[in-house]
Amino acid sequence: MASSIINNVLGRDASAYFATFGLVAASYLALKVALNVIKSLKSVVFAGSTNFKKLGSWAVVTGSTDGIGKAYAKELAKRGVNIVLISRSEAKLQEVANEIEKESKVQTRIVVADFSKGLELYDSIRDQLAGLEIGTLVNNVGMSYSFPNYFLDLPDREEFFMKMININVTSVTMMTSIVMPGMVERRKGAVINLSSAAGLTPTPLLTVYSACKAYVTFFSRCIQDEYGSKGIFCQCVMPYFVATKMSKIRKPSLFAPSPTTYVKAALNSVGVSDATHGYWAHNMQGSITGILPPAFLKMVTRNMMDKARKAYLKKMANKKE
Ligand SMILES: NC(=O)c1ccc[n+]([C@@H]2O[C@H](COP(=O)([O-])OP(=O)(O)OC[C@H]3O[C@@H](n4cnc5c(N)ncnc54)[C@H](OP(=O)(O)O)[C@@H]3O)[C@@H](O)[C@H]2O)c1
Repeated sequence: MASSIINNVLGRDASAYFATFGLVAASYLALKVALNVIKSLKSVVFAGSTNFKKLGSWAVVTGSTDGIGKAYAKELAKRGVNIVLISRSEAKLQEVANEIEKESKVQTRIVVADFSKGLELYDSIRDQLAGLEIGTLVNNVGMSYSFPNYFLDLPDREEFFMKMININVTSVTMMTSIVMPGMVERRKGAVINLSSAAGLTPTPLLTVYSACKAYVTFFSRCIQDEYGSKGIFCQCVMPYFVATKMSKIRKPSLFAPSPTTYVKAALNSVGVSDATHGYWAHNMQGSITGILPPAFLKMVTRNMMDKARKAYLKKMANKKE
C-alpha cells in the first residue's frame, strides 16, 4: 500500500530511489571515515615534529598548578623550554615551579593572577612577561559547572556567568593579544587553546561552559587562518574526559586518561593538527560523534546531562539525610 502510494507520487519504482539514496548515504559515511583515518595516520606519522625550544626559550601556561595545565608545564619543561606558570595561588605555583626546576633543569617564573577578574588583571601580566622570548602559549585555565544544571537555577547566576566568561573566554583572548605580537615579530610560535568536546557539540545544562568553549573553538580556528601564514600555529584542543579535579574523575582509564598521558599525546600533535581531540581514544570518540546525525547526538547529550544532574542531586539529598 505505502509503496504503491510512493510509486504513484514519484512516478516510478520507489525502490530505485531508495537504493540511490542508500548508496549516496553509504558513500558519504565511507568518505568521512576514510578522511578521519587519513587525519589520524597523518598525526601518527608526523607526531612530535615540533621543536618547542626552537620556537622560543619560554612557554607560558595559564592554570598551571593542577590537572592538564600542570601536565603541559611539566611536559614542555621536559622538552627544554623555560616555563612561566600563571595561577591564583602563590604557594601552589611555587611548589610546581620547584618540582619543574628539579625535574627538568629549566628556569621558571611564577605570576599570581585570578582570571575570574576582568581586564584590570592584564597590565600586570603584560609587565611580568615583558622581555621574555615566548615561543609557546598554552591557554589552559578553565572553569566548568559543579554539576549540570538549568541556566536559571544556578545559584548567584549572574556573578557565576561573569566568572565563567572571564576565566574561559577573556583569558584566552587577552593572553593571546599580549603574547602573540612577539611571536608574529619573530615569525614563529605556538598558541595552544584548551577548548572542549562541549565546544563542538551544544551541551545543554552546561550551557554557559559549552558556549564559552564554542568561542574558544572558533577563536582558535580564525586565529590559525589569520596568522598561520605568519609563522603561528594556533591549535584548538578539544578533550573529552581527562581524570582531573574538574571532571571529578580520580582513576584514569582508556577514555579518561591521566593529564600526563593526555598532554604527551596532545603536544605531539602541535604543528600537525590545528584542531584535535588530542589523544587517540578521544579522536576515536570524535570520529564516531562526527558521523552521527546532529539530532541524535543532541538527544544523547541531553540524556547524559539529565542523568548526571539527577545523580548529583540524589547524592546531595542522601548526604543531607
Ligand atoms: N578535565 C576534563 O575532563 C576536561 C575536558 C574538556 C576540557 N577541559 C579543559 O581543560 C582545561 C584544564 O582543565 P582541568 O581539568 O585540568 O582543570 P582543573 O583540574 O580544575 O585545573 C584548573 C587549573 O586552573 C587553575 N585555576 C582555576 N581557576 C582559576 C582562576 N580563577 N585564576 C587562575 N587560575 C585558576 C587551577 O588553579 P588552583 O589550583 O588555584 O585551583 C588549576 O591549576 C580547562 O580549560 C577545561 O575546560 C578539561
